[in-house]
Amino acid sequence: MSKSRVTLLGGTGFLGTELSCVLAQEFDEVILLSRRSHRSRTLRILPNVHVRQANVHDPVQLKAALEGASVVINLVGILNTAGKSSANSFEGAHADLTKSVVNTCESLGIKRYLHMSALNADADNGSSAYLRSKGLAEKHVAASTSLNWTVFQPSVIFGERDAFFNRFKSLLTMMPFFPLACPDARMAPVFVGDVVNSMVKSINNPDTYSQSIKLVGPKDFSLEEIVEYTANTAQLKRKIIRLPDGLAKFQARVMEWVPGKPFSTDNYLSLQTDSVCDSCERQPTSVDAIVPTYIGHKKGVPARHQSRREFARR
Ligand SMILES: NC(=O)c1ccc[n+]([C@@H]2O[C@H](COP(=O)([O-])OP(=O)(O)OC[C@H]3O[C@@H](n4cnc5c(N)ncnc54)[C@H](OP(=O)(O)O)[C@@H]3O)[C@@H](O)[C@H]2O)c1
Repeated sequence: MSKSRVTLLGGTGFLGTELSCVLAQEFDEVILLSRRSHRSRTLRILPNVHVRQANVHDPVQLKAALEGASVVINLVGILNTAGKSSANSFEGAHADLTKSVVNTCESLGIKRYLHMSALNADADNGSSAYLRSKGLAEKHVAASTSLNWTVFQPSVIFGERDAFFNRFKSLLTMMPFFPLACPDARMAPVFVGDVVNSMVKSINNPDTYSQSIKLVGPKDFSLEEIVEYTANTAQLKRKIIRLPDGLAKFQARVMEWVPGKPFSTDNYLSLQTDSVCDSCERQPTSVDAIVPTYIGHKKGVPARHQSRREFARR
């Protein structure tokens, strides 16, 4: 009998690491394609998860890497551009790559395709290149006539290794005052375990073919509430300063030059669209159930594993 294989693009990051642990229980082989496979040593612990070096932007390498997969999952995403290469531009990493992946799956006869997008992705968004390129990518997916595709559109995702609450905690730790851009921007943080659950359940569910699934957590927050929550949970007494719009734009322009780009003009533009959905079914796991276990003042080794226990309902 042939082995079942799922191949992931962008599977070495925060979401991919959690997803591949669950996929490893469902598939004989989980293949994670990476531009820098040497950086993903922790993922090699599971015997049927393999990290393979591949330049997924090269059509020849992509075709060779996807051959033999029964399911392909594309998680590639960037919040900021890097350098001058088109592969690291929003359009290159999101739209062009997705078009190439869709074409390659079609030419290889691969039927099942899961695509990670973002809430409010919109090819017609006139300001945020992130949301526009994510929307363009969705259009390339929906244009396929032979794939059984499902698109996922989460709000911000949280979990032990997120770049959201952890990032705010680090910044709050460094600064006595916290100048906050876009304090009224709204979002509905969704737990990584709920995102993984939704993706894994969809794989063999034909009802999810040709569907876009919005993923939001149980409660909406303003950005200011998120930062206050982070400070309180980490027991950091900090003054949060709400920046007026002009200063927020200035902060974004300055932060673009700071190593690691903690904030950018495109991040500012993305925050102009609230990442919430009133009419959507909400995912169950709350911020309160998980976040204190990894940014809390008293977090310890057992607490660090709480998010996994919650997900496994143990
Ligand atoms: N985290 C969130 O809050 C959130 C919210 C909404 C949507 N999403 C979407 O969910 C997906 C996963 O997010 P994440 O938080 O897990 O991201 P992440 O931790 O930053 O991981 C990104 C992954 O994409 C790959 N990648 C980055 N730039 C690439 C490029 N130019 N070409 C090819 N591969 C590239 C990286 O692989 P290598 O470096 O190994 O090649 C890595 O595996 C993304 O599509 C993101 O837009 C995330």
